[in-house]
Amino acid sequence: MPGTKSNIRIFWDFLVFIITIYLAIVIPLQIVFNIRSDYYVINSIIISVIFLVDIFVNFFVPEYKSNEKPYKKYLRFWFWLDILTVIPFELFEIVIKEISILRIIRVLRLARLFKLYKIKYSISFIKSKNIFNPAILRMIILGFWMFLILHFISCGWIVVGKYDSNLTNSENYLRAFYWALTTVSTIGYGDITPSNNVQIIFTICVQLVGVGMYGFIIGNISSLLANVDIARRQFQEKLDKINIFLKYRNIPYRLQEKINEYYSYLWQTRKGYDEISVLEDLPLPIKIELSTFLHKEIIEKVPIFKGANQSIIRRIILNLIPVVFTPGDYIVVEGEIGNEMFFISKGEVEVIVKGQRITTLRDGQFFGEIALLLSVPRTASVRAITFCDMYMLDRETFNNIIKQFPSFEKSIQILAEERSKELDKIHKSMWDKG
Ligand code: CMP
Repeated sequence: MPGTKSNIRIFWDFLVFIITIYLAIVIPLQIVFNIRSDYYVINSIIISVIFLVDIFVNFFVPEYKSNEKPYKKYLRFWFWLDILTVIPFELFEIVIKEISILRIIRVLRLARLFKLYKIKYSISFIKSKNIFNPAILRMIILGFWMFLILHFISCGWIVVGKYDSNLTNSENYLRAFYWALTTVSTIGYGDITPSNNVQIIFTICVQLVGVGMYGFIIGNISSLLANVDIARRQFQEKLDKINIFLKYRNIPYRLQEKINEYYSYLWQTRKGYDEISVLEDLPLPIKIELSTFLHKEIIEKVPIFKGANQSIIRRIILNLIPVVFTPGDYIVVEGEIGNEMFFISKGEVEVIVKGQRITTLRDGQFFGEIALLLSVPRTASVRAITFCDMYMLDRETFNNIIKQFPSFEKSIQILAEERSKELDKIHKSMWDKG
């Protein structure tokens, strides 16, 4: 499908994502503590090869399945940084003996971290999958960046001389991380302090960055926490407003209760979202796809839809209006003019003629077709027994559909005729009884 992300890119970006996180943590530690793992050279070569392949992937495999040429955009900027990430500076370290050059080479290893920009691809993929609550995902991402910045600051703190040779590397790192966190969060206990000019300058820089970062994080966290259950919050706000209005206008208690029951049903069945407003903004092809999915159940349940061809189904699907009725509601009133028919998706209704229940209808059945087909007033009343999820089809659409698809008209007509005959019998027996 055009526009979706290609599977190779997803897999590849994810692999680079994991390697980059590993490098972002390990390289600063290796530089600061001058550590060389057993497989230092091999690791370096493997990573260079993977990053080289990544350049080819970026060049030739488009991020999205489209006709766009991926290398054009890539060549503009990221390609040049990616070149730097490929250089295996670790190998120079082995060859070069001059201490001052060695130091520079070590720092240059940080160039690999330019690859951190790739994280955005994997994150946007995870976001698009919609597996996590978006607010929680944003909080995890924020936590990740915060940790990484604190990690860099901690390593910097050790570089500027806060290294105690009586302690192990992990103990030194722990203290540095503690200092970084207390400084950035502006808690600043003052138990670990700078003791020379370089450290003072470093501390000032971290404090300046820290103030901004702290404000940014606190602001973000409070807004994210408020949004974790955004649907529930918005729904509750709406209900609160309605309830204030109902009280203000002294609406009878029974009606207030009914309105609240209706909203609680909406919450339980669709988390308060109304289908129409979700569909409204979408372009037609996506709208059709989403409507087909949303209305799949009703299409499967209603027997007259089963044999219908795809174009009828599509026309009907796009024009079905979802409606909800609460127990006791009259959906159709006998003798009134009717302009719509109803399909029951979930729930049960009773058909009433002259005050007497003649039958009940439930999931997959429909009613209201006689008034549309024969242009007569409603032949019966229909009342909801339970909460009912229904789909409504208006007269205009109904007429258009039957004009184009006579087979659809026929199947409805058969049932309408049966019902009309039954109604005649009922009227006759009522007449006879007097
Ligand atoms: P309409 O007359 O438009 O409005 C009332 C509806 O009740 C009617 O269409 C039918 O859909 C439905 N109805 C009438 N009689 C029966 C019946 N005997 N069995 C089931 N449904 C009926």
